[in-house]
Amino acid sequence: MYLTRDEERIYEGELGWAKKKAMEILVAIGDLNDAARLIPVKSAHISGVSYRTIGDAFVFIQDLDGSVAVDATLNPMGMDRALWRAMGITEEFAERQSRVLAAYSRLGISPECTCVPYLLAGVRPDTGSHLAWAESSAVLYANSVIGARTNMEGAPSALAAALIGKTPLYGLHMDDNRLPGLKVKVDCALTDADYSALGYLIGDLAEDRIPLIELSGSLPDRDELKHLSAAIGATGAVGMYHVKGVTPEAIRGIDESYIEEEVEIERRDLDDVYEYCDPEVIAIGCPHCSHTELRQICRYLKSGGKKVRRDVFVFTARRIRDQLLDVVYEIERYGVRVICDTCYVVSPAFEHYRSLLTNSGKMKRYVPLICGGASVQLCSTEECIRAAFG
Ligand code: F3S
Repeated sequence: MYLTRDEERIYEGELGWAKKKAMEILVAIGDLNDAARLIPVKSAHISGVSYRTIGDAFVFIQDLDGSVAVDATLNPMGMDRALWRAMGITEEFAERQSRVLAAYSRLGISPECTCVPYLLAGVRPDTGSHLAWAESSAVLYANSVIGARTNMEGAPSALAAALIGKTPLYGLHMDDNRLPGLKVKVDCALTDADYSALGYLIGDLAEDRIPLIELSGSLPDRDELKHLSAAIGATGAVGMYHVKGVTPEAIRGIDESYIEEEVEIERRDLDDVYEYCDPEVIAIGCPHCSHTELRQICRYLKSGGKKVRRDVFVFTARRIRDQLLDVVYEIERYGVRVICDTCYVVSPAFEHYRSLLTNSGKMKRYVPLICGGASVQLCSTEECIRAAFG
């Protein structure tokens, strides 16, 4: 991969050990993927923040000197920074988690711990901008819904890109690699968690082919696309999708000549994703809830008119919570706990539950695999809240 003179100086270590290591990572990835050169990125989003997943490997971050070259945000960590005691997090975990956060913050990375950086003012990327984001749900949303460009970075490559402010030019940064290879026709109307179910199915079908989705009913809103993105990212290996008439590149008109297969998804395929379990706990907010979703949950609780009888957790970004404190306090009056900075999957606080109800296709895939094997039932947001009163 070609390096400019300045990039070579970083590679040789003239700007310090941390930038040298970061540049070595980017060059190795670039060489592996036949990238011609590095390109500047607008922002980086870094995963590997929860002490539950990163463990003591975080000490290497403590050793890094210098600071990030572009805006950078963090994925959820393992606890709510204010409510960790109430969550049952141990002192030892909290102390280690705080050190992870401090290590990232020292590099100039925003301690915003959320998987929906694209919902935060000042962080949301522009169409066409190049990014280095980890977190599959955010990568799919950025590429597909916003029309920005990022590969599915891992924690080390996102951090390396943040430190250098650049990423190798390959993969989804290039026009030709953003074309669909699979067409998915959906022959029924969809709403709410149907998009989680649809993404859950499409991820499995797509493998590494970018799907072009043709819907037959009304068009999805941003929250539904958020859930579609998360579910495709959870079950598949692609970093983007198109929805005809909805996502920016599909609106402009897309080259369909590389489509090698066409599949149809019917109502009964989606219904098969909605298995039954008797839930011990209800969790909403994977990906983290938007402003609209928090208001919607509040409305559903009000129409129930009484306190919930099961454990119910709602996850959101701290900045979104702080902007909607009146709504959050109202939600909490019904006995629902609103949690920030973390989520059900990356925190150790929820491992003891054996059965879960959610509107998230990503949780449906991940919770049985990495949260102690709990069973998961998918249902609409409204049904989740209705079940909470049961
Ligand atoms: Fe976000 Fe955690 Fe889900 S990081 S996408 S809430 S698994």
